[in-house]
Amino acid sequence: MKQFESFYITTPIYYVNDKPHIGHAYTSLICDVTARFMKLAGKNVKFTTGTDEHGQKIEKAAKVKGIEPKEFTDEISVTFRKLAELMNFDYDDFIRTTEERHEKAVIALWNRLEERGQIYLDSYSGWYSVRDEAFYQESELIDGRAPTGAEVQWIKEESYFFRLSSWQNKLLELYENQPNFIFPESRKNEVVSFVKSGLTDLSISRTSFNWGIKVPGNDKHVIYVWIDALTNYLTSIGFPNIDEEYKKFWTNSFNVHVIGKDILRFHAVYWPAILLAADLSLPKQIAVHGWWLNEGEKISKSLGNVIDPIGLAEEFGVDQLRYFLLREASFGQDGNFSKKNMISRINSELANNIGNLVQRTISFLHKQCFGVVPVVDRNLLKDDESLPNCKAIIDQVMDHLSKYEFNQIILLIINISSKANAYIDRSAPWTLSKTDREHMNLVIYKLLEYIRIIGILLQPIVPKSAEMILDQLQIPKEQRDLQSLCSARVSLGVTLPRPTPIFLRIDA
Ligand code: ME8
Ligand code: MG
Repeated sequence: MKQFESFYITTPIYYVNDKPHIGHAYTSLICDVTARFMKLAGKNVKFTTGTDEHGQKIEKAAKVKGIEPKEFTDEISVTFRKLAELMNFDYDDFIRTTEERHEKAVIALWNRLEERGQIYLDSYSGWYSVRDEAFYQESELIDGRAPTGAEVQWIKEESYFFRLSSWQNKLLELYENQPNFIFPESRKNEVVSFVKSGLTDLSISRTSFNWGIKVPGNDKHVIYVWIDALTNYLTSIGFPNIDEEYKKFWTNSFNVHVIGKDILRFHAVYWPAILLAADLSLPKQIAVHGWWLNEGEKISKSLGNVIDPIGLAEEFGVDQLRYFLLREASFGQDGNFSKKNMISRINSELANNIGNLVQRTISFLHKQCFGVVPVVDRNLLKDDESLPNCKAIIDQVMDHLSKYEFNQIILLIINISSKANAYIDRSAPWTLSKTDREHMNLVIYKLLEYIRIIGILLQPIVPKSAEMILDQLQIPKEQRDLQSLCSARVSLGVTLPRPTPIFLRIDA
């Protein structure tokens, strides 16, 4: 991740069969935070998201509502866009699979596969789940259902096939040669054993419904929705044009797809095989997170047990929700959603620890120094071991980031804040104000430095609140990146505004 200058990160594109829930917010949040950290680290970043609008599942959902699929998808797609805006996701592109540029990309990819002899016409008979938009082998079914619990139906229809089976060895080589291609390791092992058990050719068109992109040259067939959807990752970089953008963000970047574990096979098996077959470059990584559970069950649109991120953001604050999702879950593992835990994290960590540090420090500055940052001899701070080591912090942050360990990054920040709070208590500046004002000034200045570091590191996690913190310290906009963490300091002699509380306590 670190050695690439360009970084391209994508969310799955979400089905528009229903409104977004906390699980979608979580995936996009992971991408947003990672993208923001990479920008702070000075990388060229592209971050995309969007909606997956074709296929039988969507056609069915529109029918239930009694409206045309296009009208239906227009309506629901907007709710995903609104969620992204509300959650402060700083994406660069939002792809809808019903857009013309996307249709072009899908058809170009199909043609590339066809030209290379990777597609043939035959007939498919087997199990299909509309809810999962997936084909299943008889041997995978559990009590007559998909392994996901979804209903399956027997279908028999003429179908185009992709020669997936011939890519088995190349895929195994890929997993072997690029050990972090599937992250974390446990997911990789799952994929390797699936591929080793043998791949069959993949049915990539359907004839029993209409809502999708037509197979070039054969109108009876609609392209399989997963081929359509996966192509979005190329659409946003301008494919079928293979130009600067493609080279910068696809071939020569660290390009990563962040997904939930429910769609692993499509991303870690089908997608790389298709790209290999089409003679295109591959993503560098598929990063797979776990599920948010509600009472032990996956939160899902299809199951109807959703937790509404918009309601939570309105009740507790956008930054508070972002913080909690990143703090509570360990990447790759399932997390149980609990409002009670959310309130307790917000109160003890954001309000009592970080918020309180900022509030008491700047209030004290106003009480003792009229809000003017004391002019101290900054040489005294050079080798001060009680101050955080910026260089080491950056290394730790980037290392955690490469493993998506956001909760570890948060712990690191909380730890800095706890140290600063302990430093206040230990050095008792309120006593120094009467006995040794020069020493008091130094204590205040050190605390402001602690807060600056905390503010910079918090930006990707809680962007609005971190901005407020850095504004309160009057840190210039161009000194808010990771490089400035070490090279800049709080300006001497400036007057800081009176503090306004950053993180409020929530009454349970
Ligand atoms: O699968 N916990 O779309 P989708 C955590 N259109 N994340 C969750 C979650 C949960 N309970 N539920 C959903 C699709 N997600 C396809 C993708 S990509 C080319 C096509 C997140 O609307 C998680 O990231 O069902 C999961 O992979 C994604 O939403 C699936 O969204
Ligand atoms: Mg789903």
